[in-house]
Amino acid sequence: MDISIIGSGHVGLVSGACFADLGNRVVMVDNDSSKITRLKRGQVWFYEPGLKELVRRSLKERRLSFTHSIAMAVRQSQVIFICVGTPPLPNGEADLSSVEHVSREIARSMSTYRLVVEKSTVPVQTGEWIKRTLQSSVRKNIPFDVASNPEFLREGSGIQDFLHPDRIVLGVETQKAKELLLALYEPLNAPIIVTDVKSAELIKHASNSFLALKISFINAVARICELSGADVVQVAEGMGMDKRIGRSFLNAGVGYGGSCFPKDVAAFIRIAEKLGYDFQLLKAVSQVNTDQRHHLVKRIASSLWNLKGKTIGVLGLAFKPDTDDLREAPSIEVIRLLQEAGARVKVFDPEVMAQMDRSFPGVLGCRDVYEVARGADCLVLLTEWNEFKELDFKRVKRLMRQPLVVDGRNLYEPQRLRKLGFHYLGVGRSDS
Ligand code: UDX
Repeated sequence: MDISIIGSGHVGLVSGACFADLGNRVVMVDNDSSKITRLKRGQVWFYEPGLKELVRRSLKERRLSFTHSIAMAVRQSQVIFICVGTPPLPNGEADLSSVEHVSREIARSMSTYRLVVEKSTVPVQTGEWIKRTLQSSVRKNIPFDVASNPEFLREGSGIQDFLHPDRIVLGVETQKAKELLLALYEPLNAPIIVTDVKSAELIKHASNSFLALKISFINAVARICELSGADVVQVAEGMGMDKRIGRSFLNAGVGYGGSCFPKDVAAFIRIAEKLGYDFQLLKAVSQVNTDQRHHLVKRIASSLWNLKGKTIGVLGLAFKPDTDDLREAPSIEVIRLLQEAGARVKVFDPEVMAQMDRSFPGVLGCRDVYEVARGADCLVLLTEWNEFKELDFKRVKRLMRQPLVVDGRNLYEPQRLRKLGFHYLGVGRSDS
């Protein structure tokens, strides 16, 4: 099938590369000409395992091409996916101006039937706005359909998630739109739910918000564990064995970050408000997430008496492992709070060091974990990278000024570190 993808961000590029790999001819569009130039050379500017190889293979086999011209893409494709960004406005609402702009451009370039599919995460009823925009800009009598096909891929496992999804959600209004999308996704052999456009839009916001809710729930339970002497990892195991609950997304820690959860929770709260519902439950989810960062810093401070003049070594900056993404990463807030309290901060992250100076002013970047540990009063783990799992802890302890480890992701076995003479603090795990 001939398709185009407008917006070559994370979701757009992973989707485009995967559709091309499945044998479709895909035109990718972006208004940033430097991105297009790099993509034409097979260069991907963010870290996503396997993506560069997939892009290069499809480029070579001429199934994938890149342009900045929406008109050209629309001429060549029957199905057009909108994957542009929907960043948050100051009030939490999703900024849909790019979606509106590309919808207008698509309409002006259409000369025969086209299926326009929203894949960006958008609030419910956006499909109606896209339809209205297309109607007002399209030349007379050219037929089109609007559909919603939200994407659920995660950073760091995007290709695997796209090719082996738990489900594919198709929100359609006509038989023709349904048939086109079913044909496109047939090779994946995945469970498919076909529904109306508004329900499809809501499935995306509700799913991401529910996962954020699970995380905030276990983080709130972690606080009770700290106060009562229980262990949140054991509690999560026990809860997760109930199939109705499930173990995933019950890892207590320093809270969720990334380009999706914080933004989608805020946007869902805002769209609910606009529709006339005060989504208090989600407001609490967001509050617990913010509190978790402050709470971690308070625990470090009280273990060291105070933070003034102390050296804190931070392991991991990315919002989660296997990505170089810093958007809404808990590390940003935690480091800011540490600095505000007078601490000197040293850091190491396997992928993020190139962005250090821009994102973390006044922070000392180190070459590895051991350089971070040298002279530190405390080591704080904020991202559970695999390479942090097995450290030479005897060496770490020799290098540190005080042997305090604060494990913001519960990566380590408390007893093991305590036996080695560390003062170990996990999230939701008793202090002794
Ligand atoms: C998420 C959704 O999972 C994906 O379906 C959607 O398309 C985009 O948003 P992503 O942001 O890539 O994906 O990361 P994810 O793996 O879901 O983690 C999000 C955040 O939650 C990370 O900061 C992670 O550290 C945190 N998290 C996750 C926890 O704190 N505890 C958990 O148990 C799980």
